[in-house]
Amino acid sequence: FHKYIPFQPVPLPDRTWPDKVITKAPIWCSVDLRDGNQALIDPMNLEEKLRFFQTLVDIGFKEIEIGFPSSSETEYEICRTLIDRNLIPDDVTIQVLVQARPHLIKKTFEAIQGAKNVIVHFYNSTSTLQRKVVFKTDMQGVIDIAVNGAKLIKELTDEEVARTGMNIRYEYSPESFSGTEMDNAVAICEAVMDVLQPTPENKLILNLPNTVEMSTPNHHADQIEYFCRHIKNRDSVIISLHPHNDRGTATAATELGLLAGAERVEGTLFGNGERTGNADIMNVAMNMYSQGVDPELDFSNIREIREIYEKCTRMKVHDRHPYAGNLVFTAFSGSHQDAIKKGIDYMREHDTQYWEVPYLPIDPADVGRKYEPIIRINSQSGKGGAAFIMQQSFGYELPKAMHPEFGAMVKAACDEAGRELLPNEIFDIFRAHYLDV
Ligand code: KIV
Ligand code: ZN
Repeated sequence: FHKYIPFQPVPLPDRTWPDKVITKAPIWCSVDLRDGNQALIDPMNLEEKLRFFQTLVDIGFKEIEIGFPSSSETEYEICRTLIDRNLIPDDVTIQVLVQARPHLIKKTFEAIQGAKNVIVHFYNSTSTLQRKVVFKTDMQGVIDIAVNGAKLIKELTDEEVARTGMNIRYEYSPESFSGTEMDNAVAICEAVMDVLQPTPENKLILNLPNTVEMSTPNHHADQIEYFCRHIKNRDSVIISLHPHNDRGTATAATELGLLAGAERVEGTLFGNGERTGNADIMNVAMNMYSQGVDPELDFSNIREIREIYEKCTRMKVHDRHPYAGNLVFTAFSGSHQDAIKKGIDYMREHDTQYWEVPYLPIDPADVGRKYEPIIRINSQSGKGGAAFIMQQSFGYELPKAMHPEFGAMVKAACDEAGRELLPNEIFDIFRAHYLDV
């Protein structure tokens, strides 16, 4: 067995995030077409990316990272197609990723020619581990990479803006932020700020990736709060989260990161992305919705969104995926079904303004879905179960006095078959004993 380095607490004696609740939607940025796409066995082709892009626009994303145009001809072509075919609405900003390397930055500026609103997102890796084993450099080495990248980006932007009036904004990511010493992360971002000179009117996005999720969500939140408190000119920067899901807690990390002071979230639909994926924006948004906060994203037709996602990515949404999985609005247990029915009746009778139904966190209809009670009829089922199926599936209201006899027949058939019976099989028993005589 290996030993693993435990994460160090952040020196933050008076953290404020535990006392807060989320009260408004952050700025959302979808990275489906970049982080999500780069993690697919078969990356999306041009048509799939265009279809996915349109879906993201329909959901209401105003910032969409469309790819890494300097990384390959395909990525370059996708960027050009979106621009040349005029497929980007005026209120949507496309974001393009690039490493802080001169030839890639130049190619990126070629790719975005003619776009109206662009965020140029540049990054380099800063963590202790990456500096030691990958780049074999010290902190000054990684600061130099970021600062030189920022200088070139500023120069090319100034030329482009003077020539075309294009709206170009900047985003910088100290990649592997969460594995970087906090004061070093602040120092490198401030060095980038010195070059780009953000103002409250023209803010720089500082994206703080949890590139590999290696700590509990509260620790991630402490890192975010520490950074927010120590970065200079806080009102000239937008703090963005980019959580990954290696420990399975990206949703929690995102929520606590927002409480800790971030105002923007990068993530994907259904959590697609490198390894265990990125933060699942649908999940975070619908969690907000279920607390009465308008997420400003429209998931009222989750089935269709899911279908397009599954077609384009060739990934499957898990049956138990929050809000979207096949089984998440299904109740198998009789006592749950009873409580749900009582909740629905209560709401009908009391005309309540809140959703007050046990076992269903939201009204399934709000995401275009239906509640499904499933009664399983097996040798363990109670005598009312078979009668319930007759009523639910076939509209037969069996008198109470019939329940024991009919229940016993169905139970005997289950015992004989050695398995649960389907509604049609139950109906066949009913027909054989009561209709065909
Ligand atoms: O996870 C990550 O660190 C990234 C960066 C490139 C933002 O995807
Ligand atoms: Zn990422």
